[in-house]
Amino acid sequence: MAETRKILILAGDGIGPEVMREARRLLDWLDRKRGIRFELEEDLVGGASIDARGTPLSESTLELARAADAILFGAVGGPAWEKLGFDKRPEIAILGLRRELGLFANLRPAVVYDPLVAASTLKPDIVRGLDLMIVRESTGGIYFGEPRGITTLPDGQRRGVNTEIYTTSEIERVGRVAFGLAQARNKRVASVEKSNVMESGLLWRETITALARAEFPDVELTHVLADNCAMQLVRTPKQFDVIVTTNLFGDLLSDLAGQLTGSLGMLPSATLGEVQADGRRHALYEPIHGSAPDIAGRGVANPLAQILSLAMLLRHSFGLTAEAGLIETAVVRVLSNGLRTADIMAPGAARVGTGVMGEAVLRELDKVPQ
Ligand code: NAD
Ligand code: IPM
Ligand code: MN
Repeated sequence: MAETRKILILAGDGIGPEVMREARRLLDWLDRKRGIRFELEEDLVGGASIDARGTPLSESTLELARAADAILFGAVGGPAWEKLGFDKRPEIAILGLRRELGLFANLRPAVVYDPLVAASTLKPDIVRGLDLMIVRESTGGIYFGEPRGITTLPDGQRRGVNTEIYTTSEIERVGRVAFGLAQARNKRVASVEKSNVMESGLLWRETITALARAEFPDVELTHVLADNCAMQLVRTPKQFDVIVTTNLFGDLLSDLAGQLTGSLGMLPSATLGEVQADGRRHALYEPIHGSAPDIAGRGVANPLAQILSLAMLLRHSFGLTAEAGLIETAVVRVLSNGLRTADIMAPGAARVGTGVMGEAVLRELDKVPQ
């Protein structure tokens, strides 16, 4: 474990800074009440960085990211920057960080907390007790494959191209993460692709099958086509333990899983790189939601996904398991007490804004004997 705990905070755009403020307060609390010191750096990213520096991810930010033990990321993007070319848009910040730091394994847990069972649009029995882990490959696939671009054809039509590419080593390394997680859970992995129509999907299936046989014979592996997986996730989500899938399918399926838990505003994530020779591992933690331009600036965003992302950071990057657990327990208590942001509002509950929700988590933490 690192001596100092260097965290780079990148709040980004829209509701990013609003929910990040609440996570920051928890870091202050850990320092004040439990003597856990962090070295915090903060920087602009996404649209905020475009406005200030003309680029969504500056070289200096990337340097800070490389030097950090962990990155806590908010969200980027918004209507103000939608007309920019692809290589200039705010989203390049998160894609660039994943790519430049080799953050290939995006862990997206979907946990349904008891007090929120009714917040899901699915029937309570379908989601109660759900604890699912989606492992999304995050540095390859159609997000990064070449060729890509939009060209104009001789007849004046325009042609848009993206390319799905996976190599065996890319599939194996994300597969190892998924199987490793499954070994500590219910020992079941569902591998998701479209091997019925895509060569990259077929290679994915063959590679995962061989990996399971060679290295993880104790884990039960099933293969599910991505379209069927989407249907199964709303039919009987509890059939799944760990899902491992490609960049694009993982993006879609994790938003879907978000709604199983009641709201996208509840879902944290961790994106991990390879463990390096010196034992360090680049890692970025972020809610899976975006900058939510439709509610930005109103103080109504749910900060719990950002707060739970901080809990993941404490656990995965610093081994602060007890502190991560405290935060997660505090979140459940606040929900049990009937506090709700608008996105998870229920009849009879108390509707609160971003700041009051963050404050309530702190007050629950204060109740823990120090
Ligand atoms: P979004 O996730 O921002 O919002 C989808 C819906 O969920 C909206 O109705 C929003 O109000 C709601 N929502 C999201 N987070 C919430 C929260 N914490 N509390 C309450 N409600 C919440 O997705 P979008 O609207 O499709 O995208 C908006 C922008 O965000 C786009 O520019 C997109 O590219 C970007 N984006 C960024 C990230 C990221 O930074 N990692 C992730 C997803 C989308
Ligand atoms: C996510 C987001 C990003 C993605 C965008 C903002 C590039 O949707 O983290 O889920 O597609 O990976
Ligand atoms: Mn997404």
